[in-house]
Amino acid sequence: MSIIFSGIQPSGELTLGNYLGALRNFSKMQDGNECYYCVVNQHAITVPQEPAMLHERTRQLAAIYLAAGLDPQKATLFVQSEVPEHVQLGWIMTTLSYVGELERMTQYKDKAAKRGDSIPAGLLAYPPLMAADILLYQTNLVPVGDDQKQHMEITRDLAQRFNRLYGEVFTIPDILLGQDGTRVMSLQEPTKKMSKSDENRTATVYLLDAPKDIEKKIKRAQTDSDNAVRYDVQAKPGISNLMDIFAAVTDKSHETIEREYADKGYGTFKKDVADAVVSVLEPIQQRYEEMIGAPELDEILTQGAEKARAKAAVTYEKVLHAIGLYR
Ligand code: TRP
Repeated sequence: MSIIFSGIQPSGELTLGNYLGALRNFSKMQDGNECYYCVVNQHAITVPQEPAMLHERTRQLAAIYLAAGLDPQKATLFVQSEVPEHVQLGWIMTTLSYVGELERMTQYKDKAAKRGDSIPAGLLAYPPLMAADILLYQTNLVPVGDDQKQHMEITRDLAQRFNRLYGEVFTIPDILLGQDGTRVMSLQEPTKKMSKSDENRTATVYLLDAPKDIEKKIKRAQTDSDNAVRYDVQAKPGISNLMDIFAAVTDKSHETIEREYADKGYGTFKKDVADAVVSVLEPIQQRYEEMIGAPELDEILTQGAEKARAKAAVTYEKVLHAIGLYR
């Protein structure tokens, strides 16, 4: 049995990429493991957020976790700001971090570049807070997309640094990358990752998109002109991306897909991809609608925060003693 922790920021609408790359795996792991899944709202405020929107997206994200199959009897679902140990340990991990290593993070560089001369210091201190999220639970495995590799490396470095300086307090966590479908690309620029913050909404399938919109977006996805359904990421990034999506939602191999579409054109293929995506997302959307208004959602989150806190407090006590932060 492993301890598993992961988090998603409530800072935009979730995409098909988030589902296939992360969310879908979360519920697969809840049997036989001790899982903590977190709505990381304190990470979201490292860039400006509109308060009412942040509140709404926090609830929405929690409902999506549940709609995607997370069972609160098996896994612990909670909101980061309701477990104060995250920022408390986050501060301590910040004191152990070097400005140089934080400035090297590509996510920091990308986000900082968009903020002109007013770069929030929280953007720089993001990785030590993420390390705290993970280390509080003595986590073994962190299922995330491959864009989080650097953050996971710094998490491990910080944990090792702490253990070396103050004694063995933290378990050193490993990253768990998904297999197929981890990297869903933009439908319009298939060499770029599908992003929840893409300005072009036709480039992204959102989890809560209406079926007819999903169909439209997939039909209009960028491809090439040779009309052959063949996997070749370099030469045919658009078709390869659609094949990845199709493979991920149907469990078919690329070879099987190539064989099945050998004498069919892109039109037929796109229609089938769209249908397959809709048949995966529609039941999730129905459960989401049931959950979002239900009082049960609040009960689940309240209990989740209690459970998470009980676990986090044990580690945090050890940290305080290890570093002498007590009377
Ligand atoms: N940094 C992650 C992202 O941008 C979100 C995150 C915050 C996270 N804390 C975490 C992911 C802890 C896994 C574990 O996607």
